[in-house]
Amino acid sequence: MTGERLGSFGPGATAVTGIAELVTNDPAAGEGPLGLVRDAALVVDGGQVVWVGPTARCPAADTAIAVDGAAVLPGFVDSHAHLVFAGDRAAEFAARMAGEPYAAGGIQDTVARTRAAADDVLRANLGRLAAELRRSGTTTFEVKSGYGLTVADEERSLRLAREVTPETTFLGAHVVAPEYADDPAGYVDLVTGPMLAACAPHARWVDVFCDRGAFDADQARAVLAAGAARGLMPRVHANQLQHGDGIRVAVEAGAASADHCTFTTEADLELLSGSRTVATLLPGAEFSTRAPYPDGRRMLDAGVTVALATDCNPGSSYTTSMPFCIAVAVREMGLTPAEAVWAATAGGAAALRRDDVGRLAVGARADVVVLDAPSHVHLSYRPGVDLVARVLEAG
Ligand code: NIG
Ligand code: FE
Repeated sequence: MTGERLGSFGPGATAVTGIAELVTNDPAAGEGPLGLVRDAALVVDGGQVVWVGPTARCPAADTAIAVDGAAVLPGFVDSHAHLVFAGDRAAEFAARMAGEPYAAGGIQDTVARTRAAADDVLRANLGRLAAELRRSGTTTFEVKSGYGLTVADEERSLRLAREVTPETTFLGAHVVAPEYADDPAGYVDLVTGPMLAACAPHARWVDVFCDRGAFDADQARAVLAAGAARGLMPRVHANQLQHGDGIRVAVEAGAASADHCTFTTEADLELLSGSRTVATLLPGAEFSTRAPYPDGRRMLDAGVTVALATDCNPGSSYTTSMPFCIAVAVREMGLTPAEAVWAATAGGAAALRRDDVGRLAVGARADVVVLDAPSHVHLSYRPGVDLVARVLEAG
């Protein structure tokens, strides 16, 4: 609530003042769904937001940062990224842009290179990508395994991912490992048995690529059920390459998120809107595979909760930039600038079932992005321009 205060400020409190437009994502605090507050200030202390209100009423704090004229928003929440891998697939991208189709098979190239890489090589690449994310305003991000596809390589991927984020996802069911090309059922047994047992201690989520060239609905259900039995919450790569069962499987499993949703039917949207499952749209993937964009407008109008994420990976979407995703979602998916900013912050938080991030209200984590622009609209109005002037992260 505007002007609300949480206890008294400690010696390390910092006030951010002179904010032209503050995106709180708290409709009770300000205007519209973004809860916009003009001429605002906020105070952070102990890694939390402790005060939000007009600059004129801002209480004194030890440190003051004047951001006069800037828009301030919650750090972006990137709920879908594949950051543990080695090498890149620039040649595959160039071939695609010259007319080749995208196929799930390219994943195997990255699997081979990832298996061959030393821990420190993977760690360095992961650190480089995490730094890119932070520079572009992302303060919470998820990381999936899925380029190991052996017990040891999947376990290693998640162990490394845990070094950079608590939002780790076991994606042993990304594609069938090459050794099991003739025995997909045997691979599902491996994923749901020894691989899951080794990976579950390092993971919060379980994911499965339910699509052409990957896993069918029954295999996906088996993977999600096995993960749930080990305490992992489900999320699903669904309907990226064609119409199919992925969204139904996700909703039936109570997944936090169905990701991609490139090909959807009215029935899919009804399932999503009647559930807590968020549709996570990944504009970088359609951009980089020259696929049709999903109709985000139709989803929002149907009452579906929409998130935006990067899907950062070396094959289908090699971007860490949430501002890029926002701009493409506005231009190509029918979202308004405000809806896209909500989807990249509060939407991402919903897709990770987090209520401490994606908003700037009293009690939320102090993950704050200061723009070199007066309004959130500039994120899509000025595509390709680095507008993130400053990022404050809790802790
Ligand atoms: O989300 N869809 C499956 N996995 C990734 C692609 C991975 C790759 O091409 O390496 C995705 O787009
Ligand atoms: Fe993905």
